[in-house]
Amino acid sequence: MKRLGVNIDHVATIRNARGGDHPYLLKVARQVISFGADSITVHLREDRRHINDNDLNKLSKAKIPLNLEIACNYKMMNIALKNNPKFVCLVPEKRNELTTEGGLNVIKYFKKIKFIVNKLNSKKIRTSLFINPTIKNINYSKKINASCIEIHTGKISNLIKKRKNYKKELKLIKICANYADSIGIEVHAGHGMDYKTTKILSKIKEINEFNIGHFIIGEAISVGLKNVIKKINKTIKK
Ligand code: PXP
Repeated sequence: MKRLGVNIDHVATIRNARGGDHPYLLKVARQVISFGADSITVHLREDRRHINDNDLNKLSKAKIPLNLEIACNYKMMNIALKNNPKFVCLVPEKRNELTTEGGLNVIKYFKKIKFIVNKLNSKKIRTSLFINPTIKNINYSKKINASCIEIHTGKISNLIKKRKNYKKELKLIKICANYADSIGIEVHAGHGMDYKTTKILSKIKEINEFNIGHFIIGEAISVGLKNVIKKINKTIKK
């Protein structure tokens, strides 16, 4: 059975816009799980632009299946070890990017990534590496001892959204998913996905988990407006 992880970073983005605590991150996390998601993903960025250390602390204590995304450095590794989430996904991080723009450079940072992965593995935290789909990246991920890879689906998602030809990228993702699975690495996918990309990528049998954030939270605003406006109107127009 394929799994869905929901990234709730942008719930915190909305909350932070007013500096208060609404919408309540922990409440939303619990709702997401109760509505059928398998895990919650959050990315503790170095600039804390969405979730912060306090959020992470609360989510970790709440016994919610938590997938923590962190940059590949020792400070973040120690925060992960302290909070002990079920899953950790290592991602590249640039301060000025709007979102995670590409996959990890598993070749350049091989030693550092391997050290961090081994440390997390030794604490029985499932480790995943966010990578661009190449066979070389998968071979390095294997040497690093990562349990999983998460294929960066930003490129294919953009092509699909712009109605451009995405077949070449889809083929590459299929080949990579198949290869990773054949050498014992679990395959996940994430970034930029919406209804259409999810439909296309969910046909790849080796992809076990999808991590989706911005679209789900954005779409939830649109779908949820009806109920909220009804409730407010009931109060002011009675
Ligand atoms: N997976 C990883 C590793 C990510 O870094 C992100 C973005 O934070 C996502 C999935 C979710 O991407 P999106 O918000 O575009 O759905």
